Amino acid sequence: MIDRLHHVAVVVKDADAALKFYRDVMGLQVTADAVLEDQGVRGVLLACGENEIELIQPTRDDTGVARYLASKGETLHHICFRTDDIDAELARLKSLDVQLVDETPRTGLAGRIAFIHPKAMHGVLVELAQPPADAHASDAKGFDHMAAMVADLPTASATWKRTLGLDVTNDIDIPARQMGIAQVPVGQMIVELIYPKAPESPIAERIAQNGEGMGTSVAFEVQDIDAEIARYRAAGYTLPDAATGPLPVSVTSTISADQAFGLGIQLIQFGRAS
Ligand code: CO
Repeated sequence: MIDRLHHVAVVVKDADAALKFYRDVMGLQVTADAVLEDQGVRGVLLACGENEIELIQPTRDDTGVARYLASKGETLHHICFRTDDIDAELARLKSLDVQLVDETPRTGLAGRIAFIHPKAMHGVLVELAQPPADAHASDAKGFDHMAAMVADLPTASATWKRTLGLDVTNDIDIPARQMGIAQVPVGQMIVELIYPKAPESPIAERIAQNGEGMGTSVAFEVQDIDAEIARYRAAGYTLPDAATGPLPVSVTSTISADQAFGLGIQLIQFGRAS
């Protein structure tokens, strides 16, 4: 059974450079840092409450991850869900004829892992991980939410239910953007399935250009967004003033993905209108 988002992975050119942001400025703690020779990557995990951020730096040019970095630049690579029994998950997925990258589990940074093919998940590359018993774990809230763009909600929500066992529990209409935000809770965070409600919706145009798939930012709930903005500005980052976001009664500001090594860091404060 899948019970939480384990990590979001970003492919980076230089993990040490990225750590200067994630570890030194954001203040996240490194829980693993290893070179996986067989995969040609250095992987670093940073704890973020119950979730983690994984930095993947190619150490050779002849791997899929290196080609991904060469063609797309530093950006989100995959998301990983935690399971307590990866063998049972894979058996279940095979019985459903879900297209897999790994038919059997292999050893990764997060434990025994396997990837589901992005074609089976509306363009999202999904890893499943069964961490070892002594792995870092926390019950604190980590991410607030992340978004996946999907063309059609009924199809996508059925896929998320069937493949990962996760349910849409709430569907928010955003008329100003001609879109809906369907919320899929997992642990204390929410995966948003963002879908167009009209052909001319900006989300429809984005999907027509780039296909379905994950957005490239992660939202973190903060208690005092102005103080956080001031803190990041003092560290040399450029952020807009807090402004009303798409979610009701909230204000947001974002450290852009190009400043944060491929992952946009959205700050969100609830209970406040701008
Ligand atoms: Co991973």
